[in-house]
Amino acid sequence: MSYKIMEKVELAPNTVMMQVHAPLATRKMQPGQFIIVRVTPNGERIPLSISGWDMNKGTVRIIVQAVGRTSAELINLRVGDSLTDVVGPLGQPSHLDKYGTCVLIGGGYGTGAIIPIAKDLKARGNKVIGIIGARTKELVLMENELRTICDKVEVSTNDGSQGVKGLVTDVLTEILKQEPVHMVTAIGPVPMMKAVSEMTRPLNIKTYVSLNAIMVDGTGMCGSCRVEVGGTTKFACIDGPDFDGHQVNFGELVNRQKMYIPYEKKAMELHLCKEKNL
Ligand SMILES: Cc1cc2nc3c(=O)[nH]c(=O)nc-3n(C[C@H](O)[C@H](O)[C@H](O)COP(=O)(O)OP(=O)(O)OC[C@H]3O[C@@H](n4cnc5c(N)ncnc54)[C@H](O)[C@@H]3O)c2cc1C
Ligand code: FES
Repeated sequence: MSYKIMEKVELAPNTVMMQVHAPLATRKMQPGQFIIVRVTPNGERIPLSISGWDMNKGTVRIIVQAVGRTSAELINLRVGDSLTDVVGPLGQPSHLDKYGTCVLIGGGYGTGAIIPIAKDLKARGNKVIGIIGARTKELVLMENELRTICDKVEVSTNDGSQGVKGLVTDVLTEILKQEPVHMVTAIGPVPMMKAVSEMTRPLNIKTYVSLNAIMVDGTGMCGSCRVEVGGTTKFACIDGPDFDGHQVNFGELVNRQKMYIPYEKKAMELHLCKEKNL
């Protein structure tokens, strides 16, 4: 099986959208799930959210932000190149239901991940409001597409170069003043998901977050994606990645994410040396 890259678009610095040919994987995909890819035969396996799929073309859409060696190798590939493996769909689908008004919040690649969720919630008759958060205007991803799906889309940037100056929680505060919200889903950096969950907890608004725990096999065997939710141990790859944000132990998640930093630094240094033929 050849997992050929059919399309590649640069969305922002170090961030690309790719359509990858993986027809078997597309057969049972649902919003909120992810795939695990290997870029090279000896490379590590990295989990990536499903940002869309086309069963007729047999393609899955991914949004990749280069943060280390493997994601950098991936975004360097070109149309016509192939990935070594694509495994999926993995994980549980998002909590899709008829809620009323839903606010979907995306930061970084998380904006790509909320698109299939937004489409599904809209098709179920929900009012869907999207919030995209970014450091600056150049890093706002997928805005136009999200606008075609949602009833309303708001943008926040830390430097105020687009939309509201501030954080996604500032935008959420304003929305909560204007109308009742029945469900919130936040996908993006851990501090953002934590802040959103803390904001909705006292208001008792159902809140889901997608946990980007470190994963290896993605099938519940290795234990590396262990997270604490509601005082019990869960595996993000098979029990999640979506969990009730009010029950997640974010502190433990952050600590576990830091476990391999020295090795990740070394891998990136080797990658950069290879790129520069040093
Ligand atoms: C369910 C899920 C969905 C994800 N969806 C996307 C996506 O759609 N687009 C995207 O760009 N990124 C996504 N990520 C994050 C992506 O998997 C990591 O950025 C990638 O694995 C980093 O590998 P690296 O070698 O490039 O960087 P490294 O140098 O290895 O790591 C950089 C940082 O990424 C995190 N990371 C490292 N290895 C893993 C791993 N195996 N699993 C999870 N996190 C890891 C660590 O926090 C680390 O500090 C997702 C992660 C999860 C768990
Ligand atoms: S990634 Fe190995 S148990 Fe989840």
